Amino acid sequence: MEQYVIKGGNPLAGEVEIGGAKNAALAILAAAIMTDETVLVENLPDVRDINVLLNAMTEIGVRVERLDRHTAKVNGGLIGDLSVEYESIKRIRASYYLLGALLGKYKRAQVPLPGGCDIGTRPIDQHLKGFRALGADVKIEHGFIIAEAEHLRGSHIYLDVVSVGATINIMMAAAMAEGGTVIENAAKEPHVVDVANFLNSMGANIKGAGTDVIRIRGVEALHQTEYSIIPDQIEAGTFMFAAAVTKGDVTVKNVIPKHLEATTAKLSEIGCEVKEFDDAVRVVCSKGLKSTNVKTLPYPGFPTDMQPQITVALALANGTSMVTESIFENRFKYVDELARMGANIRVKGNNAFIDGVSRYTGAQICTPDLRAGAALVIAGLAAEGITMIDDIHFIERGYERFEEKLQSLGAQIEKISSERELQKFKLKVSADRHFSVVVDRTPVAPKGKKPQMNSQDNQEMSRQRLEETC
Ligand code: EPZ
Repeated sequence: MEQYVIKGGNPLAGEVEIGGAKNAALAILAAAIMTDETVLVENLPDVRDINVLLNAMTEIGVRVERLDRHTAKVNGGLIGDLSVEYESIKRIRASYYLLGALLGKYKRAQVPLPGGCDIGTRPIDQHLKGFRALGADVKIEHGFIIAEAEHLRGSHIYLDVVSVGATINIMMAAAMAEGGTVIENAAKEPHVVDVANFLNSMGANIKGAGTDVIRIRGVEALHQTEYSIIPDQIEAGTFMFAAAVTKGDVTVKNVIPKHLEATTAKLSEIGCEVKEFDDAVRVVCSKGLKSTNVKTLPYPGFPTDMQPQITVALALANGTSMVTESIFENRFKYVDELARMGANIRVKGNNAFIDGVSRYTGAQICTPDLRAGAALVIAGLAAEGITMIDDIHFIERGYERFEEKLQSLGAQIEKISSERELQKFKLKVSADRHFSVVVDRTPVAPKGKKPQMNSQDNQEMSRQRLEETC
């Protein structure tokens, strides 16, 4: 089992490149099978959820050619099977996008009920309501959603809750229905807009994405395209909060600052400086953090996918804060783990009441889901001592080379899978520490003479190294 081991305390500094948006990419890859022609998708994040979806797609006959880590050619011209296997898709939520894509193109789809992170009950009634409104017969049998229609016909659909997944799924099916569809109370997230832009580049006729009314005029066929996915606003926000909690100075590159407005506003409120550039943001945080209140909301509100990250920051802020989770009811599971690191948080219903503490202390903790996992890593980066995080496969679902990107900012974090690697890490971080201690103490040597470490320094170093590794 792989774990992250982190030695906290280093302010993060430098520049980091953000990859393509996972949640846009999942929908776009599914939508890419709606033409028989070959589609080129660029700026794909190389994360586990994307790879699971691509595998499932190949199992129904989609040809996928990976040109490099972030680019793939997808051809849905030879799909032979309209039924997706449970085993190949059970771990990801976005499997439901194959429903909208297959139903739109072939008027039939059979997809297992979705899995994904355990952050709430996560019903899909709005997706099904939309498919039914378009004329599909939808039933759930033996763990599968089966949707079929003679013809799909455009319709007027009002979503009872603002749902990213339902908006995208209905948009895909309606793109190849007969006539016009209107989706009211649609989700406005940047990835909804990205999927609409992608479908339009394939010949679809979708207007209004990014507002709460989307109008779609169905077309008979879609065609090939080349498309580059937008940057991941949640990956970007995660690094922005990592800068905040470590009192760092980080420039997050390859982002669309407009998509980060809620995150930027909250970081400013808690005392960080955020500078926006054309395609980058710089977060500088030199002072102590201030408390605030935050409520998660659909875009452009504060994203639920950033809730654990801001909670980790507020638990270190001066004063009392309240975080309200209004999208998923089960998204505070990480709080018990954070408490093991010294946080003082009381959860009541969908509210977390936070009394800021002055520091975290490293502990062995478990990650309950993707974003919570990333937030716990951030806590570890700010903590005194060593933090070990289990179940990092959750984090790998949505963050590409997370530890490498953090290392490039000066973080002491490594992925380990044995006791030996842990000891090696501990030795390394204690040696790093002593290296700086030694440098500080060594008198400047006269020109031409090598500086010498005295034997007292040597003994002190060995003693402390032993203490750290025991
Ligand atoms: C998407 O999930 C994302 N997942 C989630 O990302 C993200 O947290 C969420 O949108 C909100 O932004 C993917 O894109 C694969 P919703 P989704 O439908 O589409 C309720 C991450 O960490 N609802 O917008 O499943 C639902 O229970 C994750 O990357 C219904 O009641 O979310 C929730 O309360 C996890 N009926 C609210 O709507 C429905 O039919 C919003 O859910 C659908 C949703």
